[in-house]
Amino acid sequence: MTTLGTPLSPHATKVMLLGSGELGKEVLIALQRLGVETIAVDRYENAPGQQVAHHARTITMSDPVQLKALIEAERPHLVVPEIEAIATPMLEELEAAGIVRVIPTARAARLTMDREGIRVLAAETLGLPTSPYKFCNSLEELQAAIDGENGKGVGYPCIVKPVMSSSGKGQSKIDGPADVQKAWDYAMAGGRVSHGRVIVEGFIDFEYEITQLTVRSVGADGQIATSFCDPIGHVQVSGDYVESWQPHPMHPAALEKSRQIAKAVTDNLGGQGLFGVELFVKGENVWFSEVSPRPHDTGLVTLCTQHQSEFELHARAILCLPVDTSLRNPGASAVIYGGVEAQGIVFDGVEEALRVPGTDLRLFGKPESFVKRRMGVALARAENVDMARANAKLAASKVRPRVA
Ligand SMILES: Nc1ncnc2c1ncn2[C@@H]1O[C@H](COP(=O)(O)OP(=O)(O)O)[C@@H](O)[C@H]1O
Ligand SMILES: [Mg+2]
Repeated sequence: MTTLGTPLSPHATKVMLLGSGELGKEVLIALQRLGVETIAVDRYENAPGQQVAHHARTITMSDPVQLKALIEAERPHLVVPEIEAIATPMLEELEAAGIVRVIPTARAARLTMDREGIRVLAAETLGLPTSPYKFCNSLEELQAAIDGENGKGVGYPCIVKPVMSSSGKGQSKIDGPADVQKAWDYAMAGGRVSHGRVIVEGFIDFEYEITQLTVRSVGADGQIATSFCDPIGHVQVSGDYVESWQPHPMHPAALEKSRQIAKAVTDNLGGQGLFGVELFVKGENVWFSEVSPRPHDTGLVTLCTQHQSEFELHARAILCLPVDTSLRNPGASAVIYGGVEAQGIVFDGVEEALRVPGTDLRLFGKPESFVKRRMGVALARAENVDMARANAKLAASKVRPRVA
């Protein structure tokens, strides 16, 4: 049984978000609606989620000392990681000491904080199909991993990614021997922590890729139940999501395999909450790519397609409340990039954008814009996914960020 408190009172139900970007902001709004007292943490001030929470805290979340001090001072009931770059061993310590509950579990946060923990778990422990891969610490190791012995390496084409990176940062495709050095240098410049380790993956020539949102929540019988949202299709440019839609039509066998894979991974990670399982699909073949133990950026589309968005599902699941993953109508999302490098930018064309039928917008309120920073998203619901995609892209194109 869940009892929720009154915020800012001695009986408040307190939730701390570690990371308060656009995804955290929507989770915070969902929590606010249930009268949860929220603490939004980020590495910089006025992050999107900090603008809608009861409390805003700015710390270096990868620093275990700062993280421990903050959690001990605030004493939230739940700690909800929104990003990967967190001192997760410290979260494990605090969870083991009974000081806090981490969503979905501290172990899941640690295993998914870099590409290595989760890939080894999925491919080697769980035996799930993935691209062929190797981890390398130097240019020489990278070349050796591609060539292999007796031609049994990862081969060409392949993709190199820093072990610690997200949104395609430092990631590039290698088509032949001439690209290896360039890909290595690019990975070294783009990783989050410059400890020089990369994964090289064989290139999967997939037909399409999906995000299988998967929720672990408490059922009426008090047991954890797994439920699935309709598959989300998406387009990535240079490893960053630019467009997503739901539902993505799938061959029933491929859908079933996707859900088996999603179930296997999320069962192992455990805990409660929503997960974004990324899968590559070709015909009836499905490969596991990666998983976020939290709402997924491509899942922003659920703000206009589901009865409960992925953010509401996450909020409900972590509070032990019932969830409904059903689709309401087809829809699509299209990303709005900053296009300029400046603080406090303005957005022209919002009115024209919202004149496109069935559309909605989220402008995240990020204090600083970069050319390739995601500043907002256009959402469109429609009779079918094709119309929704066209309208989401049209609406996004009408919004013109500029220097104030
Ligand atoms: N092995 C691969 N084969 C083909 N495409 C890939 C492969 N790995 C990544 N990609 C493409 O790059 C995108 C981003 O890669 P991903 O591993 O998800 O990195 P990130 O953690 O930055 O999201 C994927 O969604 C997919 O489009
Ligand atoms: Mg990804």
